[in-house]
Amino acid sequence: MNDPETLISEKDIGTRVDELAAEISSDYADKGELVLIGVLKGAFIFLADLSRKLTIPRLIEFIAISSYQHGSMPSGAVRLVMDVRASIEGRHVLIVEDIVDTGHTLHYLIDMLESRGPASIRTCALLRKEHKTEVDIEVDYLGFKIGDEWVVGYGLDFAERDRTLPYIGVIQPDDPD
Ligand code: IMP
Repeated sequence: MNDPETLISEKDIGTRVDELAAEISSDYADKGELVLIGVLKGAFIFLADLSRKLTIPRLIEFIAISSYQHGSMPSGAVRLVMDVRASIEGRHVLIVEDIVDTGHTLHYLIDMLESRGPASIRTCALLRKEHKTEVDIEVDYLGFKIGDEWVVGYGLDFAERDRTLPYIGVIQPDDPD
């Protein structure tokens, strides 16, 4: 099996994560503790790296959503699989996503979390497939825009494979080998 072709190198990811962390730290300076909500499983590596580069007080939470049943085939509606533990009422929240594709997942999460009365909600995504977005969602902190391709690595998978690649690579979902 060949390694996926490199789209974004480990070095470029590191540089961009540093930039995002600096921007977020500056925007939230003196606003109290920021609640970072990582969307499992794909955002676990991005969240780990980003959160360690922040210079502001922060709390780590995770949420799990199911929107794809297997590989790249959409399963239909977005479903909550695991909720956050902390109350977010009156607190500043930053949702941390691996990739925004149609935008349905982020839209669902923002709606659901808004109803809990946070002080604010913003979004941070490492990647965005801009032209495929179906829902009008604003990503406040975006790492990279990419085209219409299936990417793996740095937390992202194809049918649970390639999550731990240190870089973002491209595969053909029809022929992952
Ligand atoms: P959306 O709801 O269509 O925006 O889908 C977002 C979710 O789909 C992400 O959190 C990923 O779990 C998954 N996803 C979309 N595109 C890719 C990809 O190219 N590689 C891996 N996962 C993806």
